[in-house]
Amino acid sequence: MNLQKFLTVLIVLTVVSIVLPAAWGVNFEESVANGKRIYARDCASCHGAEGQGGVGPALNSKSKLDSLGLENVKHSIEDGVEGTAMPGWKDTLTESEIDDLVHFIFGEWAGLVIVGIEMWPWEIAFVVIGAIWALMGAYYVVRV
Ligand code: HEC
Repeated sequence: MNLQKFLTVLIVLTVVSIVLPAAWGVNFEESVANGKRIYARDCASCHGAEGQGGVGPALNSKSKLDSLGLENVKHSIEDGVEGTAMPGWKDTLTESEIDDLVHFIFGEWAGLVIVGIEMWPWEIAFVVIGAIWALMGAYYVVRV
């Protein structure tokens, strides 16, 4: 058995199978930064540059955001609030831009931190397949 070859193949394939899907995932820090830009452009005029409120209610309150929850806030942004000045944004912004806004609002004013990278189920499947692939590759090298 060539141990060095075995380990090299194992490490390379494992790293590739983890890094590739991770790179396709959502980077939380980037998402927050993008949300911050969109907020300043589209939301600050009514909700205040610091989320302190104005025409619209304040958003910079952790207890309020915690009680609303991520999904409610996302729905308010997508559909707006009927009969009020709050417009719906789903025709103006993409879904990922609205996610960025939610990440920014909760990151900035509710202390939400998502460590590392959000991964979708198919990406996790990709990692598992990658790991199996790495083991098969390593086994082949050992046999040869
Ligand atoms: C033209 C003014 C205006 C703009 C622009 C605006 N909002 Fe609003 N927003 C409001 C008002 C007014 C309400 C309160 C509606 C109500 O009475 O329930 C509101 C409510 C909300 C709520 C629900 C808060 C709660 O207490 O349930 C969220 C979340 C929100 N806005 C986020 C945003 C985001 C994010 C943007 C930018 C994409 C934005 N708003 C742009 C006026 C605005």
